[in-house]
Amino acid sequence: MSERARFVVVANRLPVDRIVAEDGTVDWRTSPGGLVTALEPVMRKQGGAWIGWHGAPDEEVERFTHDGYSVVPIPLTSSEFEEYYEGFSNATLWPLYHDTVAFPEFHREWWDAYVVVNRRFAEAAAEVADEGATVWVQDYQLQLVPQMLRELRPDLRIGFFLHIPFPPVELFLQLPWRRKILEGLLGADLVGFQVAGAAANFLRLVRTRTDHKIERDHVRVGDRLCHAKAYPISIDTEGFAALAESPEVIAEAQALLDDLGHPKTVLLGVDRLDYTKGLRQRVRAIGELFEEGRLDPAEVVFLQVATPSRERVEEYKRLRDDIDLLVGRINSELGGVGRPPIVYRHAGFPRATMAAMYRIADVAVVTPLRDGMNLVAKEYVACHPGTDGALVLSEFAGAAKELKQAYLVNPYDLNDMKDVVLRAIEDPVEERRRRMRALKRQVKTHTIDAWADNFLGDLEKLSRR
Ligand code: ADP
Ligand code: G6P
Repeated sequence: MSERARFVVVANRLPVDRIVAEDGTVDWRTSPGGLVTALEPVMRKQGGAWIGWHGAPDEEVERFTHDGYSVVPIPLTSSEFEEYYEGFSNATLWPLYHDTVAFPEFHREWWDAYVVVNRRFAEAAAEVADEGATVWVQDYQLQLVPQMLRELRPDLRIGFFLHIPFPPVELFLQLPWRRKILEGLLGADLVGFQVAGAAANFLRLVRTRTDHKIERDHVRVGDRLCHAKAYPISIDTEGFAALAESPEVIAEAQALLDDLGHPKTVLLGVDRLDYTKGLRQRVRAIGELFEEGRLDPAEVVFLQVATPSRERVEEYKRLRDDIDLLVGRINSELGGVGRPPIVYRHAGFPRATMAAMYRIADVAVVTPLRDGMNLVAKEYVACHPGTDGALVLSEFAGAAKELKQAYLVNPYDLNDMKDVVLRAIEDPVEERRRRMRALKRQVKTHTIDAWADNFLGDLEKLSRR
């Protein structure tokens, strides 16, 4: 391995995915999801190396430079892709950590693959990191890496950040490998969570299920300390706002409104197609508002875009079919011959198009059943011009802890969701402005730069030996 780095990010995903077309041509595309959206500006600023998987199984790719930092691709075989990524990461940990909104599956072969792949990432980090460097490990796919890396390289400063919720004790205890995961995380000097409740869940588990001593927010692990604290993640607020104000995006927003036939009100949903995002409930609630005549399809459009995600995992296949059916039924029963009331696209879009959608949305409807943070909510607040937009936000998104002036809903309560969506549309403009002003203040003062500075500043202080 060439050149060592002083700062290393280790994440399952790289910022870009390698896409091989049918004719064999290779392309790189921005990877899906909030982790990449958040970390990519951090890496551009910090420089260093990003270690991760490039999204194509059974392919080995050489290290390369991207946006001024080094990208170190880690290969996965097809069977590791199935067992470590689709299996243990996304059919065991993902549902378990999201309040079991889908049933987690436990398979010993999946766990074995998780251990093997975590070791591969740890070994790569050990090779890439310079003497005394800072290594920042990311998310649920790599919870064993901190301990494995510490054993290989005790000289490193190791941080870990969990982008998704950390479950309540009663749920975590279902995991047959619970103790090993806790010990894996305790290899870090600092473990960051999205919200304080998640850090408290972690510390409670360590207290009751391991022999380590705890004082306030830290755990004594042999002769060192592991701290656990909340660091709510954010976005490049200025970057998003500037993009939304660019002439290209303003023109694209206009073209989008032309396509939609200039409705009086645009409701917007933006998600990865994931069962944690509450899409079934959201589509049903808004569908009922149309059916009951409380929303007029001639005046209101519900634009929902959903990026394809984890498409071979059973629960995701079921979700895709359910949403196709539900949207089709509502549109065929309600629509006239023109534009349907629900415009649904199962696709990923360039960031400029997302910004154009945020610009034209009168109400963003962000209603996950459980979400670590939810960056879409923050992107909408950053991009929507002026202060007359409205954000409907689930109480169960980490973002609700900060965006308190949003129209908060319980996404399991369909009647509540219907009432709140209507209120967000119909409230006097002064009320909407008051809320939006407060939301804008929040995202302007709590940016991704501040998040990274807080975490890395604490990591440096706390791991000083
Ligand atoms: P998650 O990380 O679970 O996917 P977040 O809301 O935190 O959820 O982050 C999602 C990210 O993916 C955001 O940056 C959002 O802009 C982006 N995104 C979501 N849906 C789409 C889409 N259809 N096309 C392009 N980007 C999308
Ligand atoms: C969430 C997770 C990330 C993940 C992203 C996209 O944001 O926290 O770790 O990268 O979803 O999911 P994928 O499985 O496509 O990487």
